[in-house]
Amino acid sequence: MVSTHTTLGGFSFDNCLMNAAGVWCMTKEELAGVKDSAAGTFVTKTATLDYRAGNPEPRYQNVPLGSINSMGLPNQGLAYYLDYLLELQETEPERTFVLSLVGMSPDETHTILKQVEASDFKGLTELNLSCPNVPGKPQIAYDFETTEAILHEVFTYFTKPLGIKLPPYFDIVHFDQAAAIFNQFPLAFVNCVNSIGNGLYIEDEQVVIKPKNGFGGIGGEYIKPTALANVHAFYQRLKPEIQIVGTGGVLTGRDAFEHILCGASMVQIGTTLQKEGLSAFERITNELKAIMKEKGYESLDDFRGKLRYIED
Ligand code: SIN
Repeated sequence: MVSTHTTLGGFSFDNCLMNAAGVWCMTKEELAGVKDSAAGTFVTKTATLDYRAGNPEPRYQNVPLGSINSMGLPNQGLAYYLDYLLELQETEPERTFVLSLVGMSPDETHTILKQVEASDFKGLTELNLSCPNVPGKPQIAYDFETTEAILHEVFTYFTKPLGIKLPPYFDIVHFDQAAAIFNQFPLAFVNCVNSIGNGLYIEDEQVVIKPKNGFGGIGGEYIKPTALANVHAFYQRLKPEIQIVGTGGVLTGRDAFEHILCGASMVQIGTTLQKEGLSAFERITNELKAIMKEKGYESLDDFRGKLRYIED
């Protein structure tokens, strides 16, 4: 029997596919849609302490090879998502879901995480260190000093399973430096990657999104090689207790297979989910299972991280 069952942060999931934060996760209704689809779990839209309207529209555009967005962290505020997650803990206690969050400052991040720590929430938390779209706020995880300082403080009070969402890195030295920081902490996972920040897409001599004069995060087919490189670079460098979530460029079962081959324990779907809708989970799961069956793999463990290199 071919199974796409996986584990993350000590929790068990029937399927290794889920949404990426930002897609199909703004409201309880959208989250319930992912929950009741073929996906193994869901992650919420990244929550800030309070409701945010986000950037002016148009702020998301599908394009032939992917998407460009500058949403600016629109979300309902922490309490909305936390309340829903606590409700699900009562009604579906056998399942585990993921809360994404970040503050608009390090202080706000700590305030939010302390509220999560103090709550009855028992699931996974993903700290988003990589949003490229808030004007005037750089992607946190490109600043190694700040990232290390935030994580140091977080782990003085946060005891629940915590992962971080990373931007793509593009240099081997940066993989080394980032991994050396992450390995100091009891992280449950790192999620590679958020969109490639600050791309520009042009149609008829004009940008296609309004915020930041058209600069926005690039997702979809464009970013798979970068996503796979980040998944594998961190799989090679991080201590085995820190698992990898693979995100970026997953259009087909083969793309999901490649993320797992590079070391991912869970695979998130963003642009494809936005373009195709919830049925993408079932299609991609079936395609992944067909590849596994053809290759004689029964579980993800049979091929996770087993990328082959070209030897002399
Ligand atoms: C956004 O809301 O701007 C996207 C979130 C992200 O890229 O982390």
